[in-house]
Amino acid sequence: MTEAQRVAVVTGANRGLGRAIAQGIAKTGTHVVVTARTEEAAVRAAGELAAEGLPASGHQLDISDPASVARTMADVGHQYGRLDILVNNAGIAIDRGQAAASADFEKVRATLDTNILGTWRCCTAAIPEMRKNRYGRIVNVTSHMGTFGEMGIGSVSYRVSKVGVNALTCILAVELKDDDILVNAASPGKVDTRLAYGKATLTPEQAADTFVWLATLPSDGPTGGIFFQRKRLDW
Ligand SMILES: NC(=O)c1ccc[n+]([C@@H]2O[C@H](COP(=O)([O-])OP(=O)(O)OC[C@H]3O[C@@H](n4cnc5c(N)ncnc54)[C@H](OP(=O)(O)O)[C@@H]3O)[C@@H](O)[C@H]2O)c1
Repeated sequence: MTEAQRVAVVTGANRGLGRAIAQGIAKTGTHVVVTARTEEAAVRAAGELAAEGLPASGHQLDISDPASVARTMADVGHQYGRLDILVNNAGIAIDRGQAAASADFEKVRATLDTNILGTWRCCTAAIPEMRKNRYGRIVNVTSHMGTFGEMGIGSVSYRVSKVGVNALTCILAVELKDDDILVNAASPGKVDTRLAYGKATLTPEQAADTFVWLATLPSDGPTGGIFFQRKRLDW
C-alpha cells in the first residue's frame, strides 16, 4: 500500500451488498479492509477481491462484540496508520411479520444490538482514528423501512433499528463536521441478497453505487443526509 492510499473498513463484507460495496470502493484505489464475522470468511472475501487485482485485506469483525470492534479499528490504525472510511453495512432482519404489540423481545434485543448498537460501536471506535488525520467518511446502511413516510407494520425491530441508524447519522454529522468527517446514510432499495424483503429490483453491484459515492465524497460534500440512489430521502 502506498503512503497516501486511503483505507476503508466495510462491515459484513463477505457477501451481499457489503461485498459489492467493498469491491466498488477498492476499484477507486482505496485499500479495503474486508470484514466478516469469522476470520475465514473475511480472508476468503478479501482474497477474491485481491484475485481481481484490487487492494484488499481481511479482518474478523463481529459488530455485536465490543472487543472485536475495538480490536479491529485499533489493528487497522496500527497496521495502516490511518482509517479514512467506515461503511456500516452489516445488519440482520430476523423479525419479519412481527407486530409491535406482541414483540419477541429476544429478537428485538438482538436486532437493536446488531443494527443500531453495532453501527454505533463501530463509529465510536473508528472516529478517534479518523480524527488523527482530520478526515473521515462514515456511511451507514439504512432502509426505506426506517423512514416515517414508509412506516408500515411488521418487522418492528428492524424498522426501529433503522430509524435509530438515521438519527445517529444526523447527530454524528453535526458533532463531526469541523473535523472533515462526513456522515451519511443510504437505503439501497430492494436488493437481491439473502436479506431481501419482497421482490428485489437491484443487483448488489447496482445498489453499491450510492455507497461508493458517499464513501469518497469531497470535503464540500453533503453530511447528515439519508439518501436513495444519490438523492436525499425526506425521512
Ligand atoms: N437486501 C435488501 O433489499 C436491503 C434493503 C434495505 C436495507 N438493506 C440493508 O443492507 C445491509 C446489508 O444487507 P444484505 O441485503 O447484503 O444482507 P445479507 O446478504 O444478509 O448480508 C448481511 C451481512 O451482515 C453480516 N452480519 C450480520 N450480523 C453481523 C455481525 N454481528 N457482525 C458482523 N457482520 C454481521 C452478515 O454476515 P454473515 O455472513 O456472517 O451472516 C452478512 O455479511 C443491511 O444493513 C440491511 O439492513 C438491505
